[in-house]
Amino acid sequence: MKKLSLFQYFTIGVVSLGGFLFGYNLAVIAGALHFLAAKFHLSALHQGMLVATPLFGALLGSSFAGYIADKFGRRRALFLTSLLFFLGALITTVAPAFWLIMLGRLVAGLAVGIVSLTAPLYLAEMAPPDLRGGIVSVNQLAITVGIFVAYLVNLICCESEAWRLMFAFALLPAILQFISLFFLPEIQFSKAKGSSLRTLFTPSVMKLLLIGIGLCIFQQITGINGVVFFAPTIFAKAGFTSHSTAVFATVGIGVVNVLATVIALKLLDRAGRRLLLLVGLIGMAVSLLLVALAFSFNAMRLDLIAVIGLMSYVAFFAMSIGPITWLILAEIYPLSIRGRAMSIATFSNWLFCFLLSFSFLHIFEGLGTEGTFFLFASTSIVGAIFVFRYVPETKGRSLEEIEKQLTKGG
Ligand code: BGC
Repeated sequence: MKKLSLFQYFTIGVVSLGGFLFGYNLAVIAGALHFLAAKFHLSALHQGMLVATPLFGALLGSSFAGYIADKFGRRRALFLTSLLFFLGALITTVAPAFWLIMLGRLVAGLAVGIVSLTAPLYLAEMAPPDLRGGIVSVNQLAITVGIFVAYLVNLICCESEAWRLMFAFALLPAILQFISLFFLPEIQFSKAKGSSLRTLFTPSVMKLLLIGIGLCIFQQITGINGVVFFAPTIFAKAGFTSHSTAVFATVGIGVVNVLATVIALKLLDRAGRRLLLLVGLIGMAVSLLLVALAFSFNAMRLDLIAVIGLMSYVAFFAMSIGPITWLILAEIYPLSIRGRAMSIATFSNWLFCFLLSFSFLHIFEGLGTEGTFFLFASTSIVGAIFVFRYVPETKGRSLEEIEKQLTKGG
């Protein structure tokens, strides 16, 4: 990214703090849950609700995020998210009762939902066309770093059972982002009016909506959050006897997620979106098949195969449908309705994230480990076919050129 000024780097950093908070807030519960369950005597149902509440908040947040971004501007939407992130962390940190923890998690979830749309949107609109892939994906990199840091903070706070500290940690990036946002400019956007809203229902835009929704659904139904949220459970099935080695292997997954995203940043504006998506989805399917077969034949060193297979799966995800989903969403919609169109697609991402996270353990119990991985391998293959048939290449073109090309005749 040699062509960028120092101020542009600063801007990318400030906006991507949103991605960091997205990843951190979702992953932190993995470590805190155990202590919360003991402190507030939570039933299995309450624990499930605690995990699902921020996802539900994100679902809600994403449904009006586009309206806010189109009506009030991208920067104001980011101001709102940093405030909500701050509030959410504060409430959970000091909460004396379970319902307040739930409230704090809901508020943080709202912020996650809004920022999952606003941050890539801001970055795509500020980026020069030939660097846009890399710049927008810095936000995905920040998500993966957020997940990784949450795993680490969990590991550090585990010993002293300091679950309040786990939540309090999120206060810092939220304050930092709020203050830094005063220095960023607003992006030129066109406020959506009645007439432009009708654009949403033209055939060419409807087709683009289906492409966005499809990518969002495949990003989730290929199973990434089963691994991100439940890796220790999977590793336990593969024969890891101690909880701490399973947690350690999970941190390894977090590292691979970050490193592979760095590779994606380098490749996106060279190899293009389509090629990376196809290679990534096929790579994910092959890795999952390997794990599934190893479980079916109860292979020797199942633990090792599971770790390697899952790491390779996460690496292929992080180089493809992880970052590229958010990138393409920010690229393919006409400016006049960009926020709202993104909202519809992002909503489906959170809906499937919510459904899958909620049902993952049931799927895992019902289909068995090999069945679960066969299932996700097949959805990855179907995802590759979907990309091959429908997803357009957007590499190197300006957003205006993409708009002209994709909406002509619509
Ligand atoms: C996805 C999240 C996922 C994360 C993993 C994001 O792009 O939307 O659901 O947890 O990547 O890195």
